[in-house]
Amino acid sequence: MRLCLCNFTTLSETQKKMILTWRNHKDVKACMYNANTISEAEHLSFIESLKTREDRRYFLVQNEGMDIGVIDFNDISKESAVMGLYVNPTLHQKGIGSLLMDAIVAYAFETLKVHTLKAEVFENNAKAKALYEKFGFCEKGRKMVHEKEVICMELINEHR
Ligand SMILES: CC(C)(COP(=O)(O)OP(=O)(O)OC[C@H]1O[C@@H](n2cnc3c(N)ncnc32)[C@H](O)[C@@H]1OP(=O)(O)O)[C@@H](O)C(=O)NCCC(=O)NCCS
Repeated sequence: MRLCLCNFTTLSETQKKMILTWRNHKDVKACMYNANTISEAEHLSFIESLKTREDRRYFLVQNEGMDIGVIDFNDISKESAVMGLYVNPTLHQKGIGSLLMDAIVAYAFETLKVHTLKAEVFENNAKAKALYEKFGFCEKGRKMVHEKEVICMELINEHR
């Protein structure tokens, strides 16, 4: 396994457009807080904004040259960060989510050096919830977002 993390701010125009098609895929957007279809202008402007944001980082992840998905970190502080991910929806093989989680956990605890990694998942997203639990995340609370129940989960560095 050879995972490569490509910061969104360094991507080619073709890569940026590929990611927009993933982000607008019905299976991906249904799991996001912003479930609207994102325009190309909005997408490019979001990526541009990342150049000056210390509190968020987004990466295209490649495994041995293959584009396998996106991982992101939001609300980054010295203590914690909130993670997110989606698998390239054109791939239909098991295990990609776990590969992305390997990259997330390593980056959070070894590069960002946070103590707590947080995740938020819609209560009906059983697949993502099971994936987070497999990596040691525990439920810490619940909240409502857009009238849907969200589970707030955490992984502490010492517990991974
Ligand atoms: C959630 C997502 C990342 C999972 O990716 P994946 O490639 O299917 O994950 P994996 O094949 O590595 O499976 C990892 C674990 O997820 C769980 N899982 C997978 N398929 C499942 C299913 N149908 N039902 C319940 N749990 C499931 C299992 O615990 C599995 O581990 P195991 O195979 O060792 O038992 C992927 O479906 C995705 O990108 N979804 C859309 C975006 C999204 O939901 N992001 C998270 C927002 S909070």
